[in-house]
Amino acid sequence: MSNTNKSFIHEVRRRRTFAIISHPDAGKTTLTEKFLLYGGAIREAGSVKSRRAQKHAVSDWMEIEKQRGISVTSSVLQFEYNNYCINILDTPGHQDFSEDTYRTLMAADSAVMVIDGAKGVEAQTKKLFQVCKMRGIPIFTFINKMDRQGKDPFELMEELEKVLGIRSCPVNWPIGSGKNFKGVYNRQKELIELFSEGNHGQAMAKTIKGDITNEEFKTLLGETLHQQLLDDIELLDIAGDDFNLEQILEGKLTPVFFGSALTNFGVEPFLEDFLEISTSPQARESNLGHISPETEEFSGFIFKIQANMNPAHRDRIAFLRICSGKFEKGMSVNHVQKGKKVKLAQPQQFLAQDRVIVENAYPGDIIGIHDPGIFNIGDTLSEKSTELKYAGIPQFAPEHFAKVSIKNSLKRKQFIKGITQLAEEGSIQVYRRPNIGVEELIIGVVGALQFEVLEYRLQNEYDVEILMQSLPYRYIRWIEMDNFDAKKFSMTMDTMLVENEDGQPVLLFQNEWSIRQVEERNKKAKLHETSIF
Ligand code: G4P
Repeated sequence: MSNTNKSFIHEVRRRRTFAIISHPDAGKTTLTEKFLLYGGAIREAGSVKSRRAQKHAVSDWMEIEKQRGISVTSSVLQFEYNNYCINILDTPGHQDFSEDTYRTLMAADSAVMVIDGAKGVEAQTKKLFQVCKMRGIPIFTFINKMDRQGKDPFELMEELEKVLGIRSCPVNWPIGSGKNFKGVYNRQKELIELFSEGNHGQAMAKTIKGDITNEEFKTLLGETLHQQLLDDIELLDIAGDDFNLEQILEGKLTPVFFGSALTNFGVEPFLEDFLEISTSPQARESNLGHISPETEEFSGFIFKIQANMNPAHRDRIAFLRICSGKFEKGMSVNHVQKGKKVKLAQPQQFLAQDRVIVENAYPGDIIGIHDPGIFNIGDTLSEKSTELKYAGIPQFAPEHFAKVSIKNSLKRKQFIKGITQLAEEGSIQVYRRPNIGVEELIIGVVGALQFEVLEYRLQNEYDVEILMQSLPYRYIRWIEMDNFDAKKFSMTMDTMLVENEDGQPVLLFQNEWSIRQVEERNKKAKLHETSIF
């Protein structure tokens, strides 16, 4: 193997690309910040705080846009730790929650699920978890806020199984909780990590290795805590799931870690184990079979498109996940879907807090490329092949729907142009009712804020005013059926039949009861929750 090749493979293998999923306020920002601190990418805690401040002030969409610079740079963060090169993908929450949040998970190789130890599994975590499960990527659980009185750790594990349907195996176990949270015990390594108190958020951990029955631990922990730990571990050994790497990597078993991001307790042991257990980028599915990241030929796919909010430029940034080969600035690649060559001239990468022009990048990395309006979500770029297409990115089920029409029909052309562009960026999904003109569309979105974005951008960028009427539908199903015939299809009164851009039939439902009814009445039809089936 040549030296260049060796160093390329080394670069691939030291990469870890993951998303952090959680419900707002569980501690995702704090944990990310601590990772960056340990990696030396930022010097003090609080640097990521602008995002947090932003998060609490987003009732007005204009406000978000003012801050867009920040949110673009923080969509992907790259930093180094112990010779690993780590890419963290942000999954926006709160009102910023949109289809992008789901799509980001298509670019990640694994997910870290942060759970508030007092609140357990919450709604948004559940939704994001489902996408990870669909992809079969490994999911690592970090139970946060152990410095506060929370639920019993056993109860939390039961919740993972009951609510999410995933089995769990604690890698480290908390010693005490709330004010009495003393440290964690690593079952694999037989290592007790005791935290020294005081020095808020900067505490250094003291580690002691050995069998927990060791008398020394009794003295250190005190008799009660020591006994409780012994009992807990015994129970886990008997009743818990064994650590099984294969099942973890298939996403069937989640390794669980306890800690407190705010006080740093348990963060570093988690990061170290996570990096050890998770894998470097793996082969990705495509129409030409599985493509290994170590293939020399460069390739990747676009999973997110972000509009540049500067009204003077209509430019967009397309986020590309590199799947194979080495990326070099200025290289010309095939845009497979469009069937033409494109030059990747000003590629950007997102390091801790800065956006920089990138010279080289490797599988697992995310780069931002200038998009003059030629890219769509799911497009493949490839150095040599004109045929390679990575498995598509599905449209995820919107949960909010509205009827949208133009106020002034003379603006029809601009209206369609604007709607098309926003749909390409993936911020809205567009449906039509059969036999109704394009002046009236049904728009579906994952996060309700996207309606405000739609109204604002159509007005400001396309000079189009719209009328919007909110619809009561909450569920969407894509219909799979041979020879679909609307006239023969039996629906409930409160269900609406629409078509997507390709004229495929799609159903909008108000409740789950209707979904079941329609399934009952049309046995030959299969109803799907995502567009790719
Ligand atoms: P998010 O990104 O998941 O939405 O959560 P974020 O990190 O912003 O944390 C939400 C709140 O929870 C913050 O408090 C944060 O300080 C707190 N927090 C995070 N990790 C821990 C932990 O391990 N223990 C405890 N006790 N609290 C934690 P806030 O009051 O909303 O913000 P701030 O005023 O502290 O900045």
